[in-house]
Order: sequence, then structure tokens, then C-alpha cells
Amino acid sequence: MNYNNLILNFENEIAIIKINRPKALNALNKETLEELDLAITDLDKNDKIKTVIISGEGKKAFVAGADISEMKSMNVKEAKDFSLLGNQVFNKIENSTKIFIAAVNGYALGGGCELALACDIRIAAKGAKFGQPEINLGIIPGFGGTQRLTKVIGKSQALELILTGDNIDAEEAKILKLVNQIVEVEDIMEKAKLIAEKIAKKSAPIISTAKEAVNFALEHPSAEGSKFEANLFSTCFSTKDQKEGMQAFLNNRKADFKNE
Ligand code: CAA
Repeated sequence: MNYNNLILNFENEIAIIKINRPKALNALNKETLEELDLAITDLDKNDKIKTVIISGEGKKAFVAGADISEMKSMNVKEAKDFSLLGNQVFNKIENSTKIFIAAVNGYALGGGCELALACDIRIAAKGAKFGQPEINLGIIPGFGGTQRLTKVIGKSQALELILTGDNIDAEEAKILKLVNQIVEVEDIMEKAKLIAEKIAKKSAPIISTAKEAVNFALEHPSAEGSKFEANLFSTCFSTKDQKEGMQAFLNNRKADFKNE
């Protein structure tokens, strides 16, 4: 499949998606969102892939937001459809059986911050900037930012970013737990790949079960979460990989998971 606005590469069990509109700082227009939707749907069906890295092409930006030149003349219905499309794509990332790593190599603003937030793990390059500057355009975040940012950094920190429209740097994002770690800009893909490879060595059904269990915690009270975890924990015991993992430990060797 050829994409106009994405570069998709494969390295063993890792897929690497780069948003490829560097002249517009990788701003997300409708076509890019539709291509992302297709790419993620395809990857989700691909049994060979366990982890997906998302980054931005070029030296300056991960994604500088939704495309303002496209949004400028939208009417209310078109704006709603655009927001629903962005939410649909980012929800697909969140609910995917694959593990998504955002390698934030520069500006992650508006829809770019929201794309990173939809990913499971976020690595930032030194010098990366995060923010929800929509307020300066007379709008609010529309690709899940009001929901996910609040869950990740808490209500008052989220509201400060959303209401002031201020950008924060990678160090501040790390303090707010918006990013897992900060690396030199030239090391970001290598670091993201190291994490992706480490995860890809584990059992596919078990990593997706772990993601499902952790996602559940964000939407449900603890009592329901405990029951859900017990159910998922017990389903692990129906896999060959659980048997292999435990046998390997007892035999003092590395587990050789077959993803079954
Ligand atoms: N949409 C469309 N084009 C964008 C863009 C965006 N979000 N961000 C940058 N660009 C374009 C610029 O218009 C410019 O194009 P031209 O060369 O054709 O003029 C090019 O990318 C380079 O940008 P700048 O010249 O502005 O670069 P800079 O280094 O001076 O500034 C920046 C970089 C601070 C990131 C600045 O580009 C900026 O503020 N961008 C907009 C950020 C923003 O407001 N994002 C939120 C968008 S709304 C949203 O995302 C809503 C939602 O949740 C759904």
C-alpha cells in the first residue's frame, strides 16, 4: 500500500510509521488521518507485528497539530466529522492489540500531543515541545486531548495547558508523567526500537492482554478492575506461552515464546 502522507517500514516484528508532511510540520489533515486509519487497521491484522513506533518525518516536528489551513473554513458538521475521525483513529491506537510507542522528535502540539497521548509509551527527544494551543485558535482540543491529557496528568495540570495554550518542554513533560523518558534527538529512533524489540521478545497474546488490563483501569472502578484482571490473568494459563515461560524459568533458560 502506498501512502501520500505516511512512510511505513518494517523491521522484524516492529512497524515504524512516520507522519510525512514535513513542510507543514506533519500537520494532520483529513487524508493523513484516513491513511493512519488504514495503516493501523492493517497492522492490527498483521500477526507478524507486535509493536508500532510512530514518529514525524524531518528534524522539527513530531506533529504540529491538526491542519489549520484545512480546518479554517470548516462548518460545524465538517468540524464534528473531523473530530470524530481523529478520535476514531486514536481510539484504534489505544484499543489495538499492538503496543504503540510515540517517538516524539520535535513539536507535539494540539493533535500531535493527542496522537502521542493515544500511544502506550512516549519517548521524547531533548528539545521536543508539547502543548494544546487550540485555545489560541478559538477552539478546544478535538482528537481526545481533553480526555486523555486529563487522565495522564490530572485535571488542573491539563486545564492549565489547555486554557493557557502554553507549550512545555520535554523536561517538564517528564515531570508531569506525560513522557516516559527523554533522549538525545539523534538517539530517539534507536531508543524507541530498543524498547519495541524488548517488548517484541515477549508473547504476543500476553502483551496485548497486559495492555487491555491496564487500559481497563482508566475507565473502571478498582473492584471491577480486580475481577477483570483475575479473568485476564487466568486466560494467560490457557496459552502455550505461559507453560513455556514457567518451564523455562524452572529450567534456568530463556523462554522461547511462540505467540500461542
Ligand atoms: N496546520 C497547518 N500548517 C501548519 C501547522 C498546522 N497545525 N503547523 C505548522 N504549519 C505550517 C506553517 O503554516 C508553515 O507553512 P508555510 O511554510 O507554508 O508558511 C510551516 O508549517 C512551518 O511552520 P512555521 O513557519 O510556523 O514554523 P515555526 O518554526 O515558526 O513555528 C510552530 C513552529 C510553533 C510549531 C508553529 O508552526 C505553530 O504554532 N503551529 C501551529 C500549532 C498549533 O496551533 N497546533 C494546534 C492545531 S489545532 C488542533 O490540533 C485541533 C485538534 O485538536 C483537532
